[in-house]
Amino acid sequence: MRTLIRNGLVVSPQGTQAMDVLVDGETIAALYEPGPQVDQLATSVDRVIDAAGKYVVPGGIDAHTHMELPFGGTFASDTFETGTRAAAWGGTTTIIDFAVQKYGERVQDGLAAWHAKADGNCFIDYGFHQIIGGVDDDSLKAMDELVDEGITSFKLFMAYPGVFYSDDGQILRAMQQARNNGSTIMMHAENGIAIDVLVSQALARGDTAPINHGLTRPWETEEEATHRAIMLARMTGAPLYIVHMSAKQAVNTLQQARDEGLNVFGETCPQYLYLSLEENLGAPGFEGAKWVCSTPLRSREEGHQDELWRYLRTNDLSIVSTDHCPFCMKEQKELGVGDFSKIPNGIGSVEHRMDLIYQGVADGKLSVQRWVELCSTTPARMFGLYPQKGVIAPGSDADIVVYDPNGHTSIGYEKTHHMNMDHSAWEGYEIDGHVDVVMSRGEVLVDDEGFHGSKGRGRYLKRGLSQYLI
Ligand code: URP
Ligand code: ZN
Ligand code: ZN
Repeated sequence: MRTLIRNGLVVSPQGTQAMDVLVDGETIAALYEPGPQVDQLATSVDRVIDAAGKYVVPGGIDAHTHMELPFGGTFASDTFETGTRAAAWGGTTTIIDFAVQKYGERVQDGLAAWHAKADGNCFIDYGFHQIIGGVDDDSLKAMDELVDEGITSFKLFMAYPGVFYSDDGQILRAMQQARNNGSTIMMHAENGIAIDVLVSQALARGDTAPINHGLTRPWETEEEATHRAIMLARMTGAPLYIVHMSAKQAVNTLQQARDEGLNVFGETCPQYLYLSLEENLGAPGFEGAKWVCSTPLRSREEGHQDELWRYLRTNDLSIVSTDHCPFCMKEQKELGVGDFSKIPNGIGSVEHRMDLIYQGVADGKLSVQRWVELCSTTPARMFGLYPQKGVIAPGSDADIVVYDPNGHTSIGYEKTHHMNMDHSAWEGYEIDGHVDVVMSRGEVLVDDEGFHGSKGRGRYLKRGLSQYLI
């Protein structure tokens, strides 16, 4: 099957160029300057997609998702089937999900359980990071084995004592291991010990509403943990990637470390760019539970959201992922009625990331090149998928999105929702752009006629090491 995408503007971090793209089978075969020679080619291919007036961008890579994550006595509501289908609808053609090693379990068993959930069920390609829930001699050894299996990044938690938490000694040991095997440490940077005290005190006072989730995780708990993680990375020389950053002070600390030349990186998520403690977590009644996630949404009055957009522009933040971890209100978020600490943590966004960050382009906060860099190219480079993914170039997988900057998308549960949830955390968001065509390895999954993908076509991606190693 040969497809020609004509008359579009191909976008990469380096620039935007009018180019026609020839896809042959699963890969990109060639790029042509538009002209009469392409007219000839157009008559010989199987399919022509007209992208006049539209951007042609590499498929989105969401480097932080949690399909079916066990959390707080329940499971994230998207399966690999429903979650990857929703991702494709929104222009994301690769996810990297987190396999979980629970405390007391062998890392390899945790990974096998994740393959069992994902293999044969995905609509798009997928890879794994590995959560290490119990750092000890065995799990450290397993890290080396996993690198050989294409799992080259390991998430540790400075939060959630008694669940995923690692103490500083464990973090140090895992970082030493990463330094030696070339992998990247991903850090959930919140001071979980301090947070647990604040949570108990709030509940004892009778402060049980969802907003207390944010009030008991003040920015200092994120900034302190970020600083500590950076110092531990500095001692060991391990590359460090701090996930879901929301506090401007924490990113400022990261910025200083980057300016000193340390190999440290930060990720933020759409929820921290748009939503807030006051308007969302503080919504009347139990409504705020929809937006309980960790790190928490921050105060708009304090100006975190604007600062994060700025840090995206200046590359102090390198990637936008979703931390997609959806829960329904009914029977899931509702577990925390009367006790905010029992609300499962997470928001569903995998379907909307490309649109929500494109809105930053429409609003003049980011360039279109930076949008592609944040949502596709850097995730590919950071997590060992480049140039198979993250770029429109000959030889790369034909994961391509045709995006219409003159189109419009109204996000809402009744309108554009495919995630397995009973609400949308993004209800009412209006986007000045539209995902027109989504192609994954040469196959059109989404176009104006609807969805064409099939379950199980997504392949496991054995990842290489980060290209940002020093
Ligand atoms: O609230 C969140 N972030 N839920 C998912 C688990 C995690 O810490 O990433
Ligand atoms: Zn986390
Ligand atoms: Zn997460």
